[in-house]
Amino acid sequence: MNLLVTGGAGYIGSHTVLELATREHRVVVLDNLTKGHRAAVRGVELVHGDTGDTGLLKDIFRKHNIEAVVHFAASSLVGESVRQPADYYHNNVVKGLAMLDAMVESDVRRLVFSSTAAVYGEPVEIPIPEEHPTAPTNPYGATKLALEEAMRWYDQAYGLRYATLRYFNAAGADPAGEIGEDHDPETHLIPLALNSAVGLIPHLEVFGADYPTPDGTCVRDYIHVSDLAVAHVLALDALAGGAASSVYNLGNGNGYSVLEVIKAAEEVVGKPINIKYGPRRPGDPAALVAGSRKIMDELGWRPRFADLKTVIETAWRWHSSHPAGFDK
Ligand code: UFG
Repeated sequence: MNLLVTGGAGYIGSHTVLELATREHRVVVLDNLTKGHRAAVRGVELVHGDTGDTGLLKDIFRKHNIEAVVHFAASSLVGESVRQPADYYHNNVVKGLAMLDAMVESDVRRLVFSSTAAVYGEPVEIPIPEEHPTAPTNPYGATKLALEEAMRWYDQAYGLRYATLRYFNAAGADPAGEIGEDHDPETHLIPLALNSAVGLIPHLEVFGADYPTPDGTCVRDYIHVSDLAVAHVLALDALAGGAASSVYNLGNGNGYSVLEVIKAAEEVVGKPINIKYGPRRPGDPAALVAGSRKIMDELGWRPRFADLKTVIETAWRWHSSHPAGFDK
């Protein structure tokens, strides 16, 4: 298939591009490189540009005869979204709509959309099934949900078929160690725990120890980034085979607390991790664990790296060989 991957120089995007390339899809990446890394894009064309640029999108669609889009490009930090909602509405909704419009106008009608567990808000049931009510507690989740809703109406009116993938906590790195996670600033638990273990930061702050969870720290479902990548391939294949639009959760179905993640990271690195307890981070639900039965049953997806220690080992392989991240 001829594919456009927006945000393909980012963390999950670049791992998905790697997976697509091994399946011999022809991929073009569009990335504005505000967060992504040129060096994360291996062996496929990278167009440096913005998803809000509909003229550029239409040129790419025509020039490369694009058949489907995988849309990652977005702002994606919960805490930042609470402080800067305008950026999130602009980047995720306004630019997202520009892309949907360019697709319809160019007759590209298949889309895999990168969404998030943050659309659910504070869960009323765990594990969380796809039909769980959506009530985001932060602008990040709200803006992802806004585009999900637009897609539903675009499908009905314009025949734009989609697979929405609601990720839980993406973690780990390419098991071959070629690419990995490199955010600036880094805000995610596992890379920060590894940075703390090797002394790159003096300590890891645990955000809140008074949650209604077994050890008082937040519980999350960590899913390996390469397992996420495979799900995109399966979703594209399903759409190519005529599947109707669908929404899927993606997680392992196992919840780990912040303290359990830290313990597993200590075991992987073989060193203690300095921690300091701090207040809760605004917008963080106490526990998020995925019910991923639907994508298993309908698309045959299976996690290959379900074990937390294995996930952290792959992250560690990347971190220890690239302490400063990608070559800039
Ligand atoms: N945490 C800490 N200290 C840190 C960083 C994180 O205690 O320095 C905690 C957080 O409070 C949270 C857990 O570790 O409980 C995981 O935090 P991350 O920042 O790694 O990930 P998030 O859970 O915030 O974010 C992920 C995805 C988002 C998604 C969100 C759903 O990155 O895309 O889950 O809430 F929206």
